[in-house]
Amino acid sequence: MAAILNSEQQADLLKRGFSRRTFARIATVLSSGAGLPFYNEPALAQLSKLSNIPPDAVKINANENPLGPCSEAADAIYSAVKQGGRYMFEQTDILAETLAGTLGVKHSAKPEASYVRIFAGSSAPLHQSVIAFCSKDRPFVKGDPGYEAGEKAAQYAGAKAVCVPLKKGSYDHDVRAMLAAAPNAGLFYICNPNNPTGTVTSRADIEYLVANKPQGSVVMIDEAYIHFSNTAIPCTDLVASGKDIIVLRTFSKIYGLAGLRAGAAIARPDLLEKITQWSWSPMPVAGMISATASLRVNTLVPERRKINSDTRDDTLNWLASKNVEFIPSETNCFMINVKRPGQDFFKDMAQQKVYIGRSWPVWPDWVRVTVGTKDEMMKFREAFTKCYNA
Ligand SMILES: Cc1ncc(COP(=O)(O)O)c(C=O)c1O
Repeated sequence: MAAILNSEQQADLLKRGFSRRTFARIATVLSSGAGLPFYNEPALAQLSKLSNIPPDAVKINANENPLGPCSEAADAIYSAVKQGGRYMFEQTDILAETLAGTLGVKHSAKPEASYVRIFAGSSAPLHQSVIAFCSKDRPFVKGDPGYEAGEKAAQYAGAKAVCVPLKKGSYDHDVRAMLAAAPNAGLFYICNPNNPTGTVTSRADIEYLVANKPQGSVVMIDEAYIHFSNTAIPCTDLVASGKDIIVLRTFSKIYGLAGLRAGAAIARPDLLEKITQWSWSPMPVAGMISATASLRVNTLVPERRKINSDTRDDTLNWLASKNVEFIPSETNCFMINVKRPGQDFFKDMAQQKVYIGRSWPVWPDWVRVTVGTKDEMMKFREAFTKCYNA
């Protein structure tokens, strides 16, 4: 059900400096109804060869939530499954309305008046925004190390990706350096808190970026991990006040619905229109229903935030007691300096049946680790001790 590019969209792509070849590639993918083929977290995990892992493996590689869906979400899916022969489009509207209510932004059944657009996860609006706002002449700008999906989308679309080092010591986004590095940027991507470092960029810095960005560009705030943090300030109120900002939310992290697929872009209706003009398909009903049910459980986020931070902080305290260097994190993942190529360390940990996350080229001796259950993190400690001291 994806849209085939109309003449206006074609003219827009050509005006923004896309080559005819890139343009044809994007058109083919979108018109076939496929998702854009960029690396998202599961694909990156696959690159780490997670197929054929033993059944008792500890999987702390992909920033998934080991708690999975809450019982209310699972019950909602069970009770809907017998109606699975229906499209149930209304479930997407119910989720949009419920999410808009919790975020304090306007939602309307008319797309031209709604500030919330639902997707099957947040990868699609991330990729589609890069296509919509970046081009050969309008780069994509992100922090480094940072989540790679937008950069891959930019490369695919023939746009330059500018990666600006995070600030030394605090490891938050250096918004002034990002502005200076790409005076003609199309999209500034801030992951807040950041994946992989778990660090928070201040509200003052985000507001500075929004106030000083070049005309015609947008700021994207990816709030995939915001619920885990006690200090990160959500930016949905900047959307409500009409700024050139797109906020991404996903149900893949604290809500534990990664495989069920639900996410959203929150932005002014005209920006949402630009993102969605490229592609649309019916949403997975299990994802919609379980996301709505999760939003209705008021205690869920604070409870899960505490479970995660208790386990994370225990693990970080243990690393500190062993004099291992790490970056203090506010999310469900953290970076550790293993003082040798991270890829080799990953392989050694896998021998112990503990599958950790990847390294970033800019920090090759650091690895990312996702916070698992208490029990999983005890197994992580055992394996880490063997591999770190090897
Ligand atoms: C920062 C960030 N944004 C977006 C995503 C995409 O997640 P999903 O498509 O499951 O919502 C991820 C996945 O790990 C992520 O880490």
